[in-house]
Amino acid sequence: MGDSDQSPSREALRAWQENAAFWDEQMGEGNDFHLTLVRPAVERLLGAVQGQRVLDVGCGNGLFTRRLVDLGANVVAVDGSARMVARAVARGDGNGAASYQVMDVTNEEELLALGVDAFDAAVATMVLMDLSDIGPLAGALPRLLKSGGRFVFAVSHPCFHTSGTNLVMEQINHDGRPSVAHAVKVTTYRTLAPVPGVAIVGQPVLQTYFDRPLSVLLTPFFAAGLQLDGLDEPVLPPAPNGAQPHLWDAHREIPPILVARLRYSDDGSSPVEERPVP
Ligand SMILES: C[S@@+](CC[C@H](N)C(=O)[O-])C[C@H]1O[C@@H](n2cnc3c(N)ncnc32)[C@H](O)[C@@H]1O
Repeated sequence: MGDSDQSPSREALRAWQENAAFWDEQMGEGNDFHLTLVRPAVERLLGAVQGQRVLDVGCGNGLFTRRLVDLGANVVAVDGSARMVARAVARGDGNGAASYQVMDVTNEEELLALGVDAFDAAVATMVLMDLSDIGPLAGALPRLLKSGGRFVFAVSHPCFHTSGTNLVMEQINHDGRPSVAHAVKVTTYRTLAPVPGVAIVGQPVLQTYFDRPLSVLLTPFFAAGLQLDGLDEPVLPPAPNGAQPHLWDAHREIPPILVARLRYSDDGSSPVEERPVP
């Protein structure tokens, strides 16, 4: 893929190239959102990884790769931004337990070059909403994973945290007294066009978000033969005294992310052939 390539994926990756240094400096080994929300839920659904081979899809600066290494895994970490991968490499390879590659994961052939039955597990932390096409990843996973292998991903919540939603605060009448309610207003859900957005305030350029409703997000994985067998919708823990409150702190009933586990089993069971609804 050359620089003149205008594919949606290449366009999106140009922004990640521009933002790589800023992202790495801001994220370091994890901000509050990652450390208290994303990481614990992903680790819970992933289970033990000691001695396992794990693929980290869209590894960014490698913060979760290094965590997996600390937990005893051997990790192959891929990201479509060469600058992001350079940042990850500069932060260390865990004494050889992690290897990094530049790879566009919207390209199934590139993914399959990683090997057949090569991984016990794959993860993608806050990546799928950055991919213009999730079909190639879904299609590749059954071949990349060993039978029984799992794919755990975290995304901005498809119902509550997309370009079609806004956090709102409204004054309501509560038993005759005015009171403040925090809510999420969902304006669009079913048809979300790709939109420019911001992952970390202050980043040099806007990136593109490819938000998807739940059915559109999960159907390619189901079609590839993966089965959903774990789900979490965590909320932020209370901010410690004196800490700068996060935007989502006031919305404790509404999860900002969705974390899911999909499992591939080579036991001959095939996806149900669905009948079209008349
Ligand atoms: C929000 S960051 C998440 C990084 C890391 N997983 C984390 O949790 O910190 C999304 C990452 O996806 C990568 N990415 C976006 N599109 C990609 C593509 N088509 N192929 C591979 N990586 C891609 C970006 O370069 C970026 O590093």
